[in-house]
Amino acid sequence: LNYRNTGFITSAPTIRHLPNDTGVEIAFAGRSNAGKSSALNRITDQKSLARTSKTPGRTQLINMFEVIPGCNLIDLPGYGYAQVPLEMKLKWQESLGEYLQKRECLQGLVVLMDIRHPLKDLDQQMIMWAIESRLPVLVLLTKADKLKSGARKQQLMKVRDSVKAFGGDVQVEAFSSLKGIGVDQVRRKLDDWFAP
Ligand code: GTP
Ligand code: MG
Repeated sequence: LNYRNTGFITSAPTIRHLPNDTGVEIAFAGRSNAGKSSALNRITDQKSLARTSKTPGRTQLINMFEVIPGCNLIDLPGYGYAQVPLEMKLKWQESLGEYLQKRECLQGLVVLMDIRHPLKDLDQQMIMWAIESRLPVLVLLTKADKLKSGARKQQLMKVRDSVKAFGGDVQVEAFSSLKGIGVDQVRRKLDDWFAP
């Protein structure tokens, strides 16, 4: 698919407000600041398709983008903000879990995590939920440009090794929006998920 033609469709305040459960959907999830919006912009080769939220924790909008009709990308709000009240965090986690379990059109989950701080509790939870729902997962170790090539490879191997314990269909790649590392691998995976 040509990801450059991706366009904004809609924002939804909660998962319940998303458009009809039709077509094929792929969601991008990760802790706040992991680099989800930057990754979406890089993959679609657009400067400001996905906006960086200026007030973390307050604007919890789910953004939907369309690659071609019936093929949608979902930018989920980040989880794990320290500043968000616990009750709100728990609500958001619950609704994420429900989304992963119930959204029929969801065909794959991209979990983004800073290559320097991978597999935090909530990252693991997301991967577990996806596996329980038989969803394939692509883990992107973002900001890979922050590590030298040796350290980057080492970290990649470590995370690949750790996710083996989860079972399920989980692929791990290093990624950098800044340097374009891993972009082709992501596009190829999305192609697979959109058109099996
Ligand atoms: P939320 O929407 O708040 O959940 O954050 P996000 O996951 O969408 O992260 P975002 O793309 O807004 O990026 C967060 C910060 O990380 C920004 O300051 C980016 O410039 C920086 N960043 C994102 N990707 C990269 C990368 O590949 N390399 C480097 N060095 N910095 C990056
Ligand atoms: Mg974002």
